[in-house]
Amino acid sequence: MADNGKLSKLEGIKDSSRFLRGTIAEELANGEPTFNGDNAQLLKFHGTYQQDDRDQRGGGSKEFIFMVRSRIPGGKVTAAQFLGELDLCEKFGNGTVRITDRQGFQLHGVHKGDLQAAIKGINETKLSTQSACGDVCRNFMCCPAPINGDPVRAQMQEMADTLADHFRPKSNAYYEIWLRDPDSEQSEKIHEVTDEVEPIYGKTYLPRKFKFGIALPEDNCVDIYTQDLGLLAIVEGEKIIGYNVLVGGGQGMTPAKKDTFPAVGQKMTFVTPDQTVAVCEAVVKVQRDFGNREDRKFARMKYLIANWGLDKFKAKVEEYFGESLPEPHPTDITGVDDHMGWHEQGDGKLFLGINVENGRIKDEGDFRLKTAIRTILAKYPVDTRLTALQGMILCDIDPADKDDIESILKDHGIPLAEDLTLARRYSIACPAFPTCGLAITESERVLPEVMDDIEATLEKHGLIDECVTVHMTGCPNGCARPYTPDIGLVGKARGKYTVYLGGNPEGTRIGFIYEDMVPQEDIGARLSPVLAQYVSGRNKGESFGDFCHRQGKETLLASQG
Ligand code: HEM
Ligand code: SF4
Repeated sequence: MADNGKLSKLEGIKDSSRFLRGTIAEELANGEPTFNGDNAQLLKFHGTYQQDDRDQRGGGSKEFIFMVRSRIPGGKVTAAQFLGELDLCEKFGNGTVRITDRQGFQLHGVHKGDLQAAIKGINETKLSTQSACGDVCRNFMCCPAPINGDPVRAQMQEMADTLADHFRPKSNAYYEIWLRDPDSEQSEKIHEVTDEVEPIYGKTYLPRKFKFGIALPEDNCVDIYTQDLGLLAIVEGEKIIGYNVLVGGGQGMTPAKKDTFPAVGQKMTFVTPDQTVAVCEAVVKVQRDFGNREDRKFARMKYLIANWGLDKFKAKVEEYFGESLPEPHPTDITGVDDHMGWHEQGDGKLFLGINVENGRIKDEGDFRLKTAIRTILAKYPVDTRLTALQGMILCDIDPADKDDIESILKDHGIPLAEDLTLARRYSIACPAFPTCGLAITESERVLPEVMDDIEATLEKHGLIDECVTVHMTGCPNGCARPYTPDIGLVGKARGKYTVYLGGNPEGTRIGFIYEDMVPQEDIGARLSPVLAQYVSGRNKGESFGDFCHRQGKETLLASQG
């Protein structure tokens, strides 16, 4: 264990929690609208955050609500599970479901009295909220494209499932608190009781959250450079011969703490498929034992690697793994695909990617996505997938049903991929107001109008067909990965954003701060001169982010005169 000084408060809470039980079960039944502070922290490990509706603040009282997140490896969701989540949002939530940028679902607006029923309801569809949040390995992201004719995707998605299972907490607390129903035999059968040990995590779990993602070189749709541990599949013929292991990515930062920073992962080694789980476990255990447990602002693995350097970190992973590890394979990321629109699956069937603006599934005026999905999945109960750009995929569609599905979408006011600009398709936002307690300013609720503004600016410069990616967040924690796209908009004050430029759609580079404190309504106007320079000065095939990166902030500002 690292030579830590005073451990953070949360370390004490975890330590005395009896493997994440705390007194959550007792508090669930007490009729109060909230949990106490210690339990509120432990709840995260069970997939839920205690929040309050910030639109309702004032007058000295708060409306307490809970966000409930499902952990869905690779975003694989059956029709029944999707419909189940839609039912639950109506029964216990605010009537909407959010597809997250980590391929999960979130319910918002659940009251404490309904929390257990909501979590139980999710488990009854055989999804789970366990370890969707908290200091554990969170959801395992993986390219969701259902290209069944391509055995490589299947191997990759199988690896995501294997890892998800391997790193799932083994404590019975989740089952005991949320699922046990002495009157229901069925509940006992669905949820197998496991032994009370945490072989990987130990009783204080990890110092901080830990994120995984698996991608293919030509398609980094799950942004592996932003993950604590990214696996890049190396393919020969129809086989994955192994994975490059990237370590130490992470988005969050705290501007007031000068030494915090967003980071992209570094290429550490190449592992064969057989070694992958063991090497991942060694990495997680090194972070478990040496990550910072004193100050949570420096607890992500990126800080351990920054302090030690990659060589020392790798040597420690080798020690835990028990063998030396080779250099990484020279292959790297070359592209990204949002998987929207119609595609062949390679097995005679089609899949359809549907863009969901900011991931929010709702019915609002003429836009009736929730009803459209219900209608389609009731008629065609096909599997679905959630994408890392907050979109969804309908799988296994018979080509004969294509027109009918399109017309259901059109009838419900849902645009098809070809009706949207690439900029809109690749834009994402975090939830921010009204649910997120950490939000400084709006994100999801204003991104549509910000995109109107950005689209108009792109149009003005003849760039409307370009793939310029925009990620927006309501604070610097960076939940929508705002530091790696072409344009990052990070909430800094009410209605004001830090504008980052110079990342790229492939997500392999951190952008630079171009301008701080830009009012929301000025974003398009401030980007306009940079886009003008891009039009006149770009190299053939150069993306907007690559151009900004090549020029650098000073040149971009200087050329504006
Ligand atoms: C200190 C860092 C962070 C804190 C304290 C934090 C906290 C939160 C909170 C409170 C929410 C719930 C908001 C709501 O649904 O109302 C949230 C949402 C979310 N966060 Fe974070 N977060 C942090 C960083 C990150 C990072 C770096 C990522 C991934 C790159 C991330 C991924 C997500 C996702 C996927 C959601 C769900 C909504 C969405 O799709 O944007 N978080 N986070
Ligand atoms: S980025 Fe900030 S405002 Fe947005 S969800 Fe994350 S913590 Fe909340």
